[in-house]
Amino acid sequence: MRISHAIFEKNVIVLIIGILVTVSIGGLVQLVPLFTMEQTIEKVEGVRPYSPLELMGRNIYIREGCYLCHSQMIRPFRDEAERFGHYSLAAESMYDHPFQWGSKRTGPDLARVGGKYSNEWHVAHLIDPRSVVPESIMPPYAFLAHKDLPFDDIADHLKALRITGVPYTDEEIADARKDVIAQATGGDADTSGVAQRYPKAVMGDFDGDPTRITEMDALVAYLQMLGTLVDFKDYRPAADYR
Ligand code: HEC
Repeated sequence: MRISHAIFEKNVIVLIIGILVTVSIGGLVQLVPLFTMEQTIEKVEGVRPYSPLELMGRNIYIREGCYLCHSQMIRPFRDEAERFGHYSLAAESMYDHPFQWGSKRTGPDLARVGGKYSNEWHVAHLIDPRSVVPESIMPPYAFLAHKDLPFDDIADHLKALRITGVPYTDEEIADARKDVIAQATGGDADTSGVAQRYPKAVMGDFDGDPTRITEMDALVAYLQMLGTLVDFKDYRPAADYR
């Protein structure tokens, strides 16, 4: 026994290989069960994939780098819970590819900003943040209100997400274009399809110009749904972690 251990102590290469083998076994024991489990995230009622308009808004959020100043992950600290609401659940970002948790918190966390302000407030704020928050250091995004939303390829976005595991149905993919128009024009359009497929989706002409669907419409539709899907009055964790 003593002699075999001496091999490891006297030869650094053998020692390194020995360490690698031992650590790999430990790693595999931790990781392999997760791959075989059907579901590693606790399912929570209300969480659904993004509507096509929200998804386009989310793409603009990513394109403009909003995540460089805003997180979307309320940590379980008392100060954050009192300011932003219930801490974020894993399920709330289960359809996010890529997730927008962020790590830079120059501006407030946006995980539950939906419904906090009116559409008009968001539009005014994005056009000129200092018109509503005089001390703001957020850059203006006025150009979003002048740019038509390009959504001819929206079905492909849904299809791509389906490959990663987001459960969009064939019907949702086929109707994606129609759903963008219905959600972004609100009142006059037939919004029943969107409402049924994407419960709690906010309908309307977000940017105040009903003649066009702009990037502003999509971004505000996205901001207005953030954090609104789970009803925390009814939410109870499956396990008690205390
Ligand atoms: C340079 C950093 C920076 C960038 C980039 C940035 N923001 Fe902000 N944002 C802030 C700061 C600081 C505030 C707080 C002051 C204010 O309300 O304007 C803020 C506030 C907000 C608020 C109000 C949040 C609340 O709870 O009051 C929203 C909504 C928002 N930003 C959305 C966006 C979006 C969407 C983008 C990308 C298009 C973006 N921000 C990009 C810094 C930034």
